Amino acid sequence: MASRDPLDGARVVLGVTGSIAAYKAVMLASALHQAGAIVEVILTREAAELVRPLSFQAITHRPVHQEMFSLLAETEIGHVTLGHQADVVVVAPATAHTLARLALGLGDDLLATTVLATRAPLVIAPAMETNMLLHPATQGHLRTLRERGAVIVEPEAGHLASGARGVGRLAEPAVILDTVRVVLARRGDLAGWRVVVTAGGTQEPIDPVRVLANRSSGKMGFAVAQAARDRGAQVTLIVGATSVAPPHGVRVIEAPTARTMCEAVLRTIAEADALVMAAAVADYEAAAPAAQKIKKREERLVLELVPTPDILGTVAAQRAAGALPERLLVVGFAAESADLLTHAREKLRRKRLDLIVANDIMAAGSGFGTDTNQVVLLDRSGAERALPLLPKLDVAHALWDHVLALRQQEVRAR
Ligand code: PMT
Repeated sequence: MASRDPLDGARVVLGVTGSIAAYKAVMLASALHQAGAIVEVILTREAAELVRPLSFQAITHRPVHQEMFSLLAETEIGHVTLGHQADVVVVAPATAHTLARLALGLGDDLLATTVLATRAPLVIAPAMETNMLLHPATQGHLRTLRERGAVIVEPEAGHLASGARGVGRLAEPAVILDTVRVVLARRGDLAGWRVVVTAGGTQEPIDPVRVLANRSSGKMGFAVAQAARDRGAQVTLIVGATSVAPPHGVRVIEAPTARTMCEAVLRTIAEADALVMAAAVADYEAAAPAAQKIKKREERLVLELVPTPDILGTVAAQRAAGALPERLLVVGFAAESADLLTHAREKLRRKRLDLIVANDIMAAGSGFGTDTNQVVLLDRSGAERALPLLPKLDVAHALWDHVLALRQQEVRAR
C-alpha cells in the first residue's frame, strides 16, 4: 500500500540555529528524510559552529544551504527560492535571537529571508536557557509569531546545557515531526472533520488492587487516530488501559472504565463528524467493588457481575431520538473468535452503526496486541469488503476511506 504519510514527498525547509540542541536537528533531519520528505537544511553561521554541514548533507542527500547569495543559485533569485518551493518551513532549534529576528521580520541571513519569502506554514521549536525563554521580550516575540500563524512546538522541562534543570529543552524530534505532519495534513481529505476515537481496554475495579481487564494494547485505536490526524482531522482520543503511547498531535482524554468512557464519548460527540469505537470495553463490572483488598481464603470466591453501559447502544438511542448531529457517522469494531460475519452483521444492525470493522482475533497476526490486523468492513448498505492481513495503520486508512465514501453517498443522495 502506498504511503499515506503527509511527509512523503513534502518539501521541508529545516532551519537550524545556534543552540546547543542543534545536534538534535540531525536526528530530526534524518527522521524527516526517512518519512519521505525532501529536506532542505539551512544552517545559520552560529549553528555551523556547533554541528557540521556534512552531517546534514550525508543524511538528507542534499546540499546544505548557508550563504544568502550564492552566484550559481542567484540566477534564479536563490535567496528566496527555498521559501517559494517549501511546503513547510521548520525552525528547530530556534534561539531567542532567531525568534526576535523572525518576529521583527528581519532579512539578515538566508533563514530569515526564506521565512519572509515563504507562504508555507511555519513551525518553530524554541530551545534556550530558562530565563531567556521566560524573558518578556522572548515571550512577546513568541506571541507575535503565534498571532501570525506560526505553530510553536513548546520546549520541554528537564536537564539544560547549562547544567541546570528547567524549561527550555528542545522538544523531542518525534514531537516536532508529528507537529509537521499535523501542519501538512491541513490539506488532507479529512481537513475540517472533528473525530472521536476510543482505544485500549477498560479496567473495571474489583477491589483497590484488582481489576477486570482485557488484552487490548491500544495499537488499533491509536492507528485510527493517527491516520485521521495525518489526513487533517481534529482528533479526540479517549483512552483506556494501553501498553503503547498515544500519537502526538491529538487531544487525549483518559477513561479507565466503561462508565467513564461512556461519559467521555457522550460529552465529546455532540460536535463530532465521526465516532470510531476501537476500544475493547468491558461488558460487565463488579456489582459492588470491595472498598478494601479482598483477602485470600480457603473457600471459593464468587464475584457478582452486572452489565456495563453499552456505549454504542446509548449513542444509537440518542441518535434515534434526534439528540445528536445528523452528520455524525458511527463506526464500531467487532472482535470475534468464531462466526465473524454473523456476529458483525448482528452488531451493525443492533447498534445502528454506519460501519463495523469485523476483527478476526483468531487469525495469525490479527487482533489484540499485534501490529497487524485482518478485518472485514461491513457498512449500513450491506456492502462488505474483506481486507488482507495489513499493518494496523493501513487498516485505519482503509476505514477512513470507507467513512469518506459513506459521506459522499449521503451528499449525492441529498
Ligand atoms: O488494542 P489492540 O491490541 O490493537 O487490539 C485491537 C482490538 C482487538 C481491541 C480492536 O481492534 C477491536 O476489535 N476492538 C473492539 C473490541 C470489542 O470490544 O468488541 P465487542 O465485539 O465486544 O464490541 C463491539 C463494539 O461495541 C465495539 O466497538 C466496542 O467498542 C463497543 N462496546 C462494547 C461494550 C460496551 N459496553 N460498549 C460498547 O460500545
